[in-house]
Amino acid sequence: MSLKYMGKIWLNGRMIQADEARVSAATHGLHYGTGVFEGTRSYMTGRGPALFRLGDHIKRWFASARVYGMEIPYSREQLIEATHEVVERNGFGDCYLRHLCFYDSGSLGIRAKNPLGAAILAWPWSNQHGDKGLEHGVRATVSPWRKFSSSMMPTTAKASGQYLNSRLAVDEAASRGFDEAILLNVEGDLAEASVANIFLVRDGRLITNDERSSILMGITRNTILELARDRRIPTEVRRMSLEDLFTADEIFLTGTASEVVPVREVDGARIGNGGRGEMTAELQAAYFAATHGLDARREDWLDYVGQRAVMAVR
Ligand SMILES: Cc1ncc(COP(=O)(O)O)c(C=O)c1O
Repeated sequence: MSLKYMGKIWLNGRMIQADEARVSAATHGLHYGTGVFEGTRSYMTGRGPALFRLGDHIKRWFASARVYGMEIPYSREQLIEATHEVVERNGFGDCYLRHLCFYDSGSLGIRAKNPLGAAILAWPWSNQHGDKGLEHGVRATVSPWRKFSSSMMPTTAKASGQYLNSRLAVDEAASRGFDEAILLNVEGDLAEASVANIFLVRDGRLITNDERSSILMGITRNTILELARDRRIPTEVRRMSLEDLFTADEIFLTGTASEVVPVREVDGARIGNGGRGEMTAELQAAYFAATHGLDARREDWLDYVGQRAVMAVR
């Protein structure tokens, strides 16, 4: 993604052109990864662009900040207002957004309590794995890099420095020709993919893990569990092993960037029909119906851009 696609961003309370933003080389967050962020999407609906589960993303952003003792220097209402403004002022329909709060420059001592910077960026970005990935699935590998344990870092927080683990895993997977890395936790159970949660389907049941497996509690993961409930699909939330992975009828990954993407192969072993499985297809369609305003039961997940008053900090 190049800055030219980004247009206007919100930085420290002001809308500016993305290429006018200046960040010091002494930014604490650059040196130590001391930042917390969110990835969110806006989808085009019959009533214009709508931010999907924005209130939940803002809530998780504040929770991530709290774990690291950071107090985001704006109210949730101000940030919601600013998010709408970023999408509106850029004239975007479908777009991806980032909310970031970081320790700015000042001192570079590890404990420095520098002023906090905050930014909201948006740009058009389709699925991380493209339409082909969504339809035919991706090829994954079990990474030699383990997911760090929640006793080492708060895995339920979305903090910048924590992503070096994801980067190592996904680069290593790519170096061996795979699209995605599946990380085991330190206990040897499945944790998650580089930036997505894992779902398995076996004998008509949907299976996923939770924070006890050292994962980020994905908002897309929760969306899929809710959509499964609407459809009375039996669900199990429990630890998942490598054996579960290789004996699954279907596997799919969920995340704001990857949405709902099937896994067609793991380390050369074909999963199910070697493409998008039946339940994966059903839940993927349900997900896109909800994001695009076509599921009346799930209207409350959408915040229509330009209708800020409707937005609730739910
Ligand atoms: C490590 C990790 N796990 C899971 C997810 C999926 O989370 P969400 O569905 O909230 O985007 C993400 C993406 O944000 C992630 O970075």
